[in-house]
Amino acid sequence: MTPDHASTLTAEVCALAPVIPVLVVKDAAHAAPLARALVAGGLPALEVTLRTPAALDVIREMATVEGGVVGAGTLLTPADVERAKEAGASFGVSPGATPLLLEAAEANDLPLLPGAASATEAMALLERGYRVQKFFPAEAAGGASFLKSLASPLPQIRFCPTGGIGADNAPDYLALPNVACVGGSWVATGAMVEAGDWDGITALAAAAAKLPR
Ligand code: 3PG
Repeated sequence: MTPDHASTLTAEVCALAPVIPVLVVKDAAHAAPLARALVAGGLPALEVTLRTPAALDVIREMATVEGGVVGAGTLLTPADVERAKEAGASFGVSPGATPLLLEAAEANDLPLLPGAASATEAMALLERGYRVQKFFPAEAAGGASFLKSLASPLPQIRFCPTGGIGADNAPDYLALPNVACVGGSWVATGAMVEAGDWDGITALAAAAAKLPR
């Protein structure tokens, strides 16, 4: 898959809702109810981070939930890309971007949202054809004001900022012309998932789904 085609597909994922929940799930038994809770709240695009031993099983389970579009996050290596694809991920997300990772995503037809945190990193990805990128770590790397500064010189790039974003500052990012959607863990924290607080997660998702952009 070309980076240009991947960008078209990741833009479609971002268009589904203003927020992509970033999920760290320890128990595959939580996968289906969690996905149902988020989809019910109006957030269909889900990022399952490959940070737990259960993550690939979680992706497999969530991929069966109607209305969900499940991606794999924290992709660091070509092997991660292959495992994510095999588990049924529809898209991938990485905190950064290396030549090997990009090659693997392109060779395995996994639409990738690669990470950038500077003008040079964003330009290198654009040069390769990635028009949609993750901005990570959003708050620590300069926040909404930094991203706003990139909009004039790099209007071709749209970002999904992630890292340190919550209900309080998400609107600052979503108001920017170069933000397609934001990612964050606040709609389904580890504690809420562990507690099986599906109603609470649906309520937070519903509020996030209503954020203007
Ligand atoms: C991550 O990869 O952990 C995401 O950037 C989510 O960050 P957050 O937990 O600060 O929302």
